[in-house]
Amino acid sequence: MKNASSGLRKLIALAISLITLTLLGGCDVNTRMSTFDTKGPVAETQYELFMITVWVSTFIFVLVGAFYLVAMFKFREKKNDTRPLPTQGHGNPLVEIGLIGASILLLVIIAVPTLRAIWYTHDIPFSEESQLGEWYQGDGLAAAEEDNVLTIRVNGYQWWWAFDYPQLGISTANEMVIPAGKVIRLELRSKDVIHSFWLPRIAGKVDLIPGRTNQMWIQAGDSFEAWQEKNNATGTDEELRAAYAQYLQDEIHNYYYGQCAEYCGDSHARMLFRSTVVGDDEFADWVSDIKQGHTTPNGMSWDDWYSTLNDSPETLSDDINQGLNLFMTRGKCATCHAVNGNPRALGVAGPNLTKVASRLSMAAGWLNHRAEDGSVDEAQQYENFFKWIKETDVVKPGNRMWKANGGGIGELDELLTDDEIRKISLYLQTLK
Ligand code: CUA
Repeated sequence: MKNASSGLRKLIALAISLITLTLLGGCDVNTRMSTFDTKGPVAETQYELFMITVWVSTFIFVLVGAFYLVAMFKFREKKNDTRPLPTQGHGNPLVEIGLIGASILLLVIIAVPTLRAIWYTHDIPFSEESQLGEWYQGDGLAAAEEDNVLTIRVNGYQWWWAFDYPQLGISTANEMVIPAGKVIRLELRSKDVIHSFWLPRIAGKVDLIPGRTNQMWIQAGDSFEAWQEKNNATGTDEELRAAYAQYLQDEIHNYYYGQCAEYCGDSHARMLFRSTVVGDDEFADWVSDIKQGHTTPNGMSWDDWYSTLNDSPETLSDDINQGLNLFMTRGKCATCHAVNGNPRALGVAGPNLTKVASRLSMAAGWLNHRAEDGSVDEAQQYENFFKWIKETDVVKPGNRMWKANGGGIGELDELLTDDEIRKISLYLQTLK
């Protein structure tokens, strides 16, 4: 009997160990949304604070656990135990005051770095490196903005993100492009319910609350000064600048994954976003592409294209032109979506689609078409566009595009045909 129960106990212990091992196997600190693999001073500060708290908590856990185990084994009742109860420590001034003192000490050990981290992440740093006019060489930057850090207005919608760059006069959606190593000030607003901006490897969460503007700053990678200090780098200024640029290129330029971190309705779990971190030149090119916008598919002026659409639409017979026609007319896409360059596609209720075909995901990060080499997988992208237009409610339940159209794309009684959706998808793929 005794053997059987100890065998069972061993079996249970083995099962628990195996389950724990399996669960721990799911832990990996190098995932794409890991807060342990930080890229930038804000996330790094938060990580360091987290580790201090972990060590203090671990110390308390081990100490209390050790006392507990000693007491449990040393004083447990044995067979035929005739020992009296051990001395009771309740009310012992030394123990009581000692424990209160130790608790206060541990709280202070946590409080000092906590306050320091709060102040650090709250104050937008002012440095040469972060001044917009110092590094952004593109056109159209108002003189008044030259001394400011780059500002991005983040607007949360159910269930997507608008990223406006007020100093540069551009807007984009769901994939935020930012320059490496530069301080960026984010203004966070919501157009409907509470959302939360979370880009784990670059910075912790801040909520977007209707009716107010929250602020945070982020920086992908260290500033030049911080990098120099960390690496004890020496050399001529030119060599240092080159090594710093190499560091940004190798370790920071990347595609980062973000997520809405506050429950915000049906498709909260599908309200993701991305951030592409690039070099200054690539950033300037990206801005100028968006500003320039798109011409017509056949190179006509937009006025001519619209006259042709009016007078002889049959001449706009190829798939892309027909896709644009559907985008502007029966599909009613332009009511809610803007495409820069096109003077009649000015909608603001949905994501700006100017460079939608250059993005590596769509539907707020839910449908991916990023190839392994980091480029756009065009076949997958076509499938994603098609799927999104055809069954937008399946991709993102409850979304406004579905609701606004009475439960479908196009008039209820004349939904777009598969061939029409194909043409719109092909047209969207030209918006690079
Ligand atoms: Cu937005 Cu959850």
